[in-house]
Amino acid sequence: MEIKTSSGRFAEADVQAVAVAVFKDEKAGEGFLKDVDAATGGLVGSILESGELKGKEGETAYIHLAPGGGMKATRLLLVGVGERNDYKRAQVSQFAGAAVRSLRARNVKSVALVPRLEGGDAEDAAAAAVEGAVIGIFEPDKYRTIEKEERAVEQLQVIVEGAQDEALRSGAERGRVVGESVNFTRDLANEPGAYMTPTIMAERAQEVANQFGLEIDVLDRPRIEKEGMGSFLSVANGSDQPPKMMVLKYMPEGKTSIEDGEDYLALVGKGITFDTGGISIKPSENMELMKYDMTGGATVIGVMRAVAQLKPPIPVLGVVPATENMPSGKATKPGDVVRAMTGKTIEVINTDAEGRLILADAVAYAKKLGATRVIDMATLTGAVSIALGDVNTGILGTDQELIDEVIECGREVGEKFWQLPLDKEYSKQIKSDIADIKNVGGRKAGTITAAAFIKEFADGVAWAHLDIAGTAWGDEAKPFRSKGPTGVAVRTLLNLIERESERAAGKTSSDGSSK
Ligand code: BES
Ligand code: ZN
Ligand code: ZN
Repeated sequence: MEIKTSSGRFAEADVQAVAVAVFKDEKAGEGFLKDVDAATGGLVGSILESGELKGKEGETAYIHLAPGGGMKATRLLLVGVGERNDYKRAQVSQFAGAAVRSLRARNVKSVALVPRLEGGDAEDAAAAAVEGAVIGIFEPDKYRTIEKEERAVEQLQVIVEGAQDEALRSGAERGRVVGESVNFTRDLANEPGAYMTPTIMAERAQEVANQFGLEIDVLDRPRIEKEGMGSFLSVANGSDQPPKMMVLKYMPEGKTSIEDGEDYLALVGKGITFDTGGISIKPSENMELMKYDMTGGATVIGVMRAVAQLKPPIPVLGVVPATENMPSGKATKPGDVVRAMTGKTIEVINTDAEGRLILADAVAYAKKLGATRVIDMATLTGAVSIALGDVNTGILGTDQELIDEVIECGREVGEKFWQLPLDKEYSKQIKSDIADIKNVGGRKAGTITAAAFIKEFADGVAWAHLDIAGTAWGDEAKPFRSKGPTGVAVRTLLNLIERESERAAGKTSSDGSSK
């Protein structure tokens, strides 16, 4: 998809279709819609008066216009975007996604988007619109040979009338990078287990590093053994596929190392390329979905992919432990005791609670590499879907400031997080009779006890944990995105890195608000 921006008039856009955001209960007689109404010979007014479109989120109205009228384009899509006061970056992104999906379905090849973030930052508007459009056109149909989505929006233009062209261009570029990185994560998450083994995942990470210029280190089994990562290895033992620990490093230009005591953000993601449950094997119903149990890891690689291109002034570390979780003659058995890299001993009660076992060593390794703040993400527990469904990602941790920042950054980009408590009482549930801790804490508070387990390895750093098991996969399509992998948290974390960059550059005001 070719991407352009324009500060000119929507009526002059040389495209097949123009998509315009319409606010709830907006009238055609005032503001920008008055122009659109005039350009369409009053058609917009008659649509709104008919009640066909009330401006509610997700509503659309589509019309063909006579050639030679008030607009160069001969098709117009009105897209409801909800309350004007609630219309921010996140809503612009959803508007753009809904517009391109709806127009693609009508075989439109060239589209101009009028996001109308009036009074907002034009650069942000362009970024959000492009990002939303790129995410909107993603389809997880790579392996289909019939009924594949063959139609494509080939040209996209984002129009913010009267804006600075340079701001629009840089916003659009940022939006493209972010959108493509979200889709990169979705693509990885969607791959069947056979095509996304730890080795292949590490190759994909290597490609990203080569293409965009990141330092990368992939630890193979001998090195993982040498590091003493017995917890990670206890999961990998059942599989014929060799485990990999990917380490991606982004350093701002001119910087070569992390000083003592310097702030260093690490992202750690669960990379179980297929989760059968191991000896504590899962029921076969829906087990095919467990190909996406590496989404946390894919999220980390996706974020690093964007970071390498956006080049923030702060260093970022990515750590992804990857392995299959398989039953076999070599697999860890319930009741076995394993030793993590930190020396802590773990009684493995249930081999299906493997995510926390690999994250334990990955978080410890991030600390060894100098991380001072760690955000880990994982499709960790079925329990989080019971608690929060597919609407909110569960967030827990030890650093309230970091947690609040993730929640706020998520809100800005349209990704919701809901904090669950992590009182020390919950840690009693993971006390073992024969070892330091055990890997499950009983039926109660499953998402919390999983986090309490990881907390054992996150001492001494500011830590937040994202349980994306409920939000990383969409069972149904939305107007603005396909069903399947959502790429959740990529945008939130990129927003967080951008904010911290601004703070590092001293741009943040004392009340904590950015810009
Ligand atoms: N990968 C699963 C969690 C999961 C379940 C993600 C369903 C997405 C959808 C994880 O490894 C797991 O199996 N967790 C167990 C933990 C239990 C054994 C304590 C679970 O949630 O049932
Ligand atoms: Zn499992
Ligand atoms: Zn799992």
